[in-house]
Amino acid sequence: MTNPTEQYYPGLEGVIAGETAISTIAGGLQYRGYSIQDLAEKSTFEEVAYLLIHGNLPSESEFASFKSRLADSREVPESVYTLFRSLPTDANAMDVLRTGVSILAHHDADTGSIELAASVRKAERLLAAIPTLVTAWSRIKSGNDPVAPRSDLDFSANLLNMLHGSEPAEVERHALDVSLILYAEHEYNASSFTARVAASTLTDLHGAVVAAIAALKGPLHGGANEKAVEVLLEVGSKDNAEAWIRNAFKTKRLVMGFGHRVYKEEDPRATILKRFCMEIAPERDATEWEDMADIIEKVMWDEKHLPPNMDWPAGRLYRMIGLETEIYTPLFVASRITGWAAHVIEQQSANRLIRPRATYVGPAAQSYVPITERE
Ligand SMILES: CC(C)(COP(=O)(O)OP(=O)(O)OC[C@H]1O[C@@H](n2cnc3c(N)ncnc32)[C@H](O)[C@@H]1OP(=O)(O)O)[C@@H](O)C(=O)NCCC(=O)NCCS
Repeated sequence: MTNPTEQYYPGLEGVIAGETAISTIAGGLQYRGYSIQDLAEKSTFEEVAYLLIHGNLPSESEFASFKSRLADSREVPESVYTLFRSLPTDANAMDVLRTGVSILAHHDADTGSIELAASVRKAERLLAAIPTLVTAWSRIKSGNDPVAPRSDLDFSANLLNMLHGSEPAEVERHALDVSLILYAEHEYNASSFTARVAASTLTDLHGAVVAAIAALKGPLHGGANEKAVEVLLEVGSKDNAEAWIRNAFKTKRLVMGFGHRVYKEEDPRATILKRFCMEIAPERDATEWEDMADIIEKVMWDEKHLPPNMDWPAGRLYRMIGLETEIYTPLFVASRITGWAAHVIEQQSANRLIRPRATYVGPAAQSYVPITERE
């Protein structure tokens, strides 16, 4: 047995747990060397998805065939809809999505394979089908029929069309697309690390993604975008914002949408999305929400030195483009599937089982006492 290192860092804070060529946060967030500022401004979510899954930006012909493969894989088996219709309508949307991905595994000819080409094919198919799962559940639970995917729309337009049954305005499509670019990948975050741990046992992509969805659901991770909106709904008005946040300090409340394990000064994704929120707020009658958010941000920074994370503006942006709160974390999945797939593929291509050690803090060695003789 190798000697475990004596050093223990709760939550693995600051620990280097592996190598990756997918993204870095050192010197600003970059996906495979491209800054998120450039990608958010100049690229599209579909192009970023290609970059993450395939490792490079596509040529025109590579991109055209990628988009056509995605468009062809948007349909899901009828059994998915049948099962969704049988679920309680108050089932949690992330739990339903997790179940939906499990069902897709049973219908995918490559499910059990961990060959590189098979993992890439499955990654593309999951990327294409997850919006269908997300929107089908949202509609079924509200008593509506799912809207069939359309192959003539891009990723974000098709998603919004399936959700609302009508094509989105360009401002809505673009806002969603940019948010998906920013949610796509983030180094060794909790859900991607979960996916890597699963993949390191040589399990398959669907299994690793199901595990990652479970990890993302938690409010300390992806679930925060929904909770951030609940905070603002509770605050209610800009006049109440300062009193609300000061009271939150007094009661030692965790304010969702603030703080980050690695960003202590600024989450660059939040800065980009906040600009977006401010741009479209006037036309969406949402300036009061931006003012409320501003006041809370300022007091948080002045008193606690805590910056907002990406979930803080993402929740507001999604609300401004007319999306219901319950779908926010599933939308995060629709994007992060690209990062998870990239991590699973990277793990599979140079695998070593991830199995750390723990410091034992339980009782000292004890003698076994038969049950009839125990006090
Ligand atoms: C993301 C998060 C888990 C990172 O936690 P972390 O790296 O363990 O940060 P720490 O616990 O070291 O935070 C330092 C201090 O700030 C406080 N703090 C951190 N985030 C806070 C928040 N959102 N609201 C209030 N206080 C917060 C901690 O309580 C701690 O205070 P203390 O030193 O008095 O105990 C944490 O900031 C959090 O829970 N945020 C809210 C959930 C959220 O928005 N998650 C999405 C992340 S992208």
